[in-house]
Amino acid sequence: MARGGYFFLLITIGLLASYVVDGLGVNWGQITTHILPPKVVVQMLKDNKISKVKLFEIDDATMQGLAGSNIEVMVAVPNYLLNSMTNPKTASQWVEKNVTKYLNQKPPVNIKYVAVGNEPFLAAYNGSFLNSTYPALKNVQTALNDAGHGDKVKATVPLNADIFMSPSNHYVPSAGYFRPDISTQMSDIAKFLDKNKAPFTINIYPFFNIYQNPGFPFDYAFFDGIKYPLMDDDIAYENSFDGAYDTLIMALEKVGVKNIPIIIGEVGWPTDGDKNANVELAEKFYRGLMKKIGNNMGTPLRPKQYIEVYLFGLLDEDAKDVSPGNFERHWGLFTQDGQPKFPIDLTGKGRNITLVGAKDVKMLPKKWCILRSDAKNETLIEETIKYACNYGDCTPLGMGCSCGNLDAAGNASFAYNVYYQTMGQKAGSCGFSGLAMETTKNPSSGNCTFAIRLAPPPTPSPPPASAPESGPPADGKAQSSKSSAYYYGPSLLLLLGLEVVASFFF
Ligand SMILES: *[C@@H]1O[C@H](CO)[C@@H](O)[C@H](O)[C@H]1NC(C)=O
Ligand SMILES: *[C@@H]1O[C@H](CO)[C@@H](O)[C@H](O)[C@H]1NC(C)=O
Ligand SMILES: *[C@@H]1O[C@H](CO)[C@@H](O)[C@H](O)[C@H]1NC(C)=O
Ligand SMILES: *[C@@H]1O[C@H](CO)[C@@H](O)[C@H](O)[C@H]1NC(C)=O
Ligand SMILES: *[C@@H]1O[C@H](CO)[C@@H](O)[C@H](O)[C@H]1NC(C)=O
Ligand SMILES: *[C@@H]1O[C@H](CO)[C@@H](O)[C@H](O)[C@H]1NC(C)=O
Ligand SMILES: *[C@@H]1O[C@H](CO)[C@@H](O)[C@H](O)[C@H]1NC(C)=O
Repeated sequence: MARGGYFFLLITIGLLASYVVDGLGVNWGQITTHILPPKVVVQMLKDNKISKVKLFEIDDATMQGLAGSNIEVMVAVPNYLLNSMTNPKTASQWVEKNVTKYLNQKPPVNIKYVAVGNEPFLAAYNGSFLNSTYPALKNVQTALNDAGHGDKVKATVPLNADIFMSPSNHYVPSAGYFRPDISTQMSDIAKFLDKNKAPFTINIYPFFNIYQNPGFPFDYAFFDGIKYPLMDDDIAYENSFDGAYDTLIMALEKVGVKNIPIIIGEVGWPTDGDKNANVELAEKFYRGLMKKIGNNMGTPLRPKQYIEVYLFGLLDEDAKDVSPGNFERHWGLFTQDGQPKFPIDLTGKGRNITLVGAKDVKMLPKKWCILRSDAKNETLIEETIKYACNYGDCTPLGMGCSCGNLDAAGNASFAYNVYYQTMGQKAGSCGFSGLAMETTKNPSSGNCTFAIRLAPPPTPSPPPASAPESGPPADGKAQSSKSSAYYYGPSLLLLLGLEVVASFFF
């Protein structure tokens, strides 16, 4: 939309508010044990005037939920298909079955972009997608063009923010460049996108700056102003979002790509799973971000323009891989059953507005599972907690998290309950060798919620156990996973002979 340009904005100033609201996007990931019906989610999007979604896969139920809604959709070629997409024939089959089909059906799905891979150059993937991403991008766009969709549907590659950097001794956006180990690929990709009038897509997470660097200037992650801005010649940078965005602009210019539209593929703040992941900071972050977007503030290098963003994310995802951190399951503006977590004015006017939650949602009965008061065997309690937490999401129990203040018995109850709910309250799921019992009294207290999950229960097979020990899956499957620059970024930078501090400000 930025391509409409400054001029367009000036003449439509009266329509600005609705223009902005209409432009907002969200990421809709579905790595959950209990999935909200797509139609319910689409109604939520409409009720909150969210007009764009970004998906991480293509599944028919989701696509049919979006059909006829006119919501703009970014569909995705998952990382595990990138290699096969280097074959033009495979790419054209993928486009036919996964794009043409939905554009041509009645009612159609309003597909606007195809994301080719998801953060494929993440250092955690050890270069697995280094050689396939650019050919896959070319083949997908060519297939789109050949199928006659090229003018309307553009292929792009959502990339993580550690693809670019600045030298540690000149740590400013104007010195930005692409990471040396991927500079050839980045140059090819950027030029190709530019030539095809497709946007460059980048994910920006100021939360990671803080998570990764204890010494990071806290206020620089937010948008409320800071005492000592980062001076880049005569430009003062007051937040890491602008710093990262403008560093990317400079990196692009260094490979000869100017004025390419930039989309923020993911940006957001988690509400649990870390001491800095809570509702208060998320609200602060979003208030600043939405004000910036809603008022077309742009960045120092691209001032006064609308920035197209996809918030991350729409819903919590309780089965997401937590190797980057326990906060991974708590990125939602809404809980996984579609209830708003905090007030936020998506138009950026800063009003105290509650988002509209999911309607007609069927929940499991109001029953919980807790530790019996006469339970004694501590060894057994510990064993059963471990078992329960392998299936259910126990990340709120961590230090500084929403249930971090529970005593040992509270911990056990939380774990038993999360298992019981995850299993759809099915008979026998509140046993734990006789240590547990059902109750109709809600054990929640303060910020610690003993959540009830959506009905009906999942299919007979148990939900996927989380795998906290393993790294992100090599095949990139089921990844709406965040960039984790903090998690391998530093070692990568060291490998390149650069100081860790180089990732400090972005
Ligand atoms: C359509 O997309 C899905 C998900 O990415 C994939 O599994 C499937 O193979 C695709 N269909 C074709 C014909 O390529
Ligand atoms: C990518 O290509 C380079 C150069 O041809 C090769 O050395 C490397 O092993 C390839 N990487 C992968 C993951 O295929
Ligand atoms: C509950 O969460 C809010 C918002 O994050 C925080 O301000 C408050 O201190 C928390 N209360 C407790 C008891 O931890
Ligand atoms: C926002 O509104 C809610 C109720 O609608 C109220 O509880 C809350 O205190 C308000 N917050 C502010 C900052 O005014
Ligand atoms: C406690 O449970 C463990 C099994 O986890 C069992 O080996 C042990 O005998 C139990 N202790 C008592 C006192 O029942
Ligand atoms: C509760 O569980 C958390 C997470 O496993 C743990 O860090 C904490 O020490 C436990 N608290 C008690 C009192 O056992
Ligand atoms: C990347 O390499 C590391 C260390 O060699 C290994 O532990 C990890 O499993 C690898 N990850 C992938 C996705 O191949």
